[in-house]
Amino acid sequence: MNILGISAFYHDAAACLLRDGEIVAAASEERFTRKKHDPDFPIHAIRSCLEQGRIRADDLDYVGFYEKPFIKFKRILFTHLACFPWSLKPFLKAIPSWLQEKLIIPSLIRDKIGYEGEVLMIEHHLSHAASSYLLSPFRESAILTVDGVGEWSTATYGRGEGNAIRLFREIRFPHSLGLLYSAFTYYLGFTVNSAEYKVMGLAPYGEPRYLDQVRRLIEVRPDGSFHLDMRYFNYLAGLTMTNGKFDDLFGGPPRSPEAPLDQRHKDIAASVQRVTEEVMLQMARHLGRETGSPNLCLAGGVALNCVANGKILREGPFEHLFIQPAAGDAGGAIGVASYIHHTLLKNERSFVMRHAFTGPAYSDEEIRAFLDVNEIPYVALSREELLRRVARLVADQQVIGWFQGRMEFGPRALGNRSILADARNPENRDRVNLKIKFRESFRPFAPAVLRERCEEFFELKEESPFMLLVAQVLPDRRVIPSVTHVDGSARVQTVDRETNPLFYDLVAEFDRLTGVPVLINTSFNVRGEPIVCSPSDAYRCFVQTGMDVLVMGSFLLDKSNPLPRIPSIDWERAFEPD
Ligand SMILES: [Fe+2]
Repeated sequence: MNILGISAFYHDAAACLLRDGEIVAAASEERFTRKKHDPDFPIHAIRSCLEQGRIRADDLDYVGFYEKPFIKFKRILFTHLACFPWSLKPFLKAIPSWLQEKLIIPSLIRDKIGYEGEVLMIEHHLSHAASSYLLSPFRESAILTVDGVGEWSTATYGRGEGNAIRLFREIRFPHSLGLLYSAFTYYLGFTVNSAEYKVMGLAPYGEPRYLDQVRRLIEVRPDGSFHLDMRYFNYLAGLTMTNGKFDDLFGGPPRSPEAPLDQRHKDIAASVQRVTEEVMLQMARHLGRETGSPNLCLAGGVALNCVANGKILREGPFEHLFIQPAAGDAGGAIGVASYIHHTLLKNERSFVMRHAFTGPAYSDEEIRAFLDVNEIPYVALSREELLRRVARLVADQQVIGWFQGRMEFGPRALGNRSILADARNPENRDRVNLKIKFRESFRPFAPAVLRERCEEFFELKEESPFMLLVAQVLPDRRVIPSVTHVDGSARVQTVDRETNPLFYDLVAEFDRLTGVPVLINTSFNVRGEPIVCSPSDAYRCFVQTGMDVLVMGSFLLDKSNPLPRIPSIDWERAFEPD
């Protein structure tokens, strides 16, 4: 039974191939088109999934789409009528794509991929819920989905049991925790639907001095449901996220994107982050009371807020947490495919998503061919030599581009498309931020730690394979300053030998050399660029940045000899910053 899941046309288009309930392949379109958060029909991702599954489109039993476009269109139409005439301009701009693509999705899918079977569509938040619960290790669980907006829902409470999911409560547009966070992302000068994580990264530098003001925007009830005061927002008419009344409340106009970040911005970030955590926790507590379950499955874009997730784990009523690694809309592709297989077709669950390495891989033969054709000098190493040499280079303060195996699904690099450096060196934060990733120096890096050594360094008892939990670094173990945030926290990735033996062995080798089983693990890309997918993407990024060494498969390249450029890109200007 082959099922293709598709998410598209909002942001983060993606595809997933599910075979007998197991993920054969899943990938985001942005990685192939090199356009960050690419929302277009994910034809490259679909082709890649079919290729990895060694099937053609006519071998598919079902195709699923991650939301119901007619209901969404109705919401847009109602909103337009309610906000007429201010909403006219954005509405007219949106209409052609609705008529040409979004309202004819089944026939569009059939045409684009050459498929003649059934196309099933389920609600957006059901896709989120399914992407988490049906792939989780739990037979029974509470489910919480929170995002910007789907059709009408912006958050749902639910429960999963066996292969059934029941969403029993929803919060509806325009009242949205995701859109509240996005409004502040906009106000602080970052790109909406893309750079929300920067607000989270900025928050620990500030004090929550604007809590009263943020609380004036959102009224939270004891059950975690909430109501936004729409007089402060402009997103209903679609022109900007916030308005003049919002500016008055927070003491000035929105920050322009490249303007300096001052203390006020940091304090505002700290305040909205605090309120988001409080609301998420309140929702989780209510859901715990309603379901009585010890387990919680999270999904939706707000579930990428790993500080809030860490708080739910520490202070919430649940013993265990499962967060879909592609918690944003990309993950909807997995959700709809799993829902068709398990819930609609009533197949038993047996698959658990223990890792996110579901994208394309490149063999040593393919990598060698790429290097030879482009006359790029390299050395080939055995597995042991490679691990020894790379661990030594990291300890000698070299920054490594690490390209191995299958590409990750979801926004985090987890050891297959990663940039690695020594977490013990405090200078590495600025060095990697400014010379390699060309990004803001305030942004911290995440530690990859051997799973069984995690508790020696962090206040974290659960595993965190998808880098979606923030925990405190133990005060006496702050020997890893470049991954310790200003408030003593870290966004932890636990590395398991079972799911990524090569990366695990590399961190273990570094531990043998230094006594520290922790590396900086940041995504292999520059600011504004999607994470690299192919050897060619990785090589271009390597030569154009301050990275010292590139390892692809069994091959190691350094900059001791001049390297050919293929073709030249002005890397600092090639990608729009977010
Ligand atoms: Fe969503």
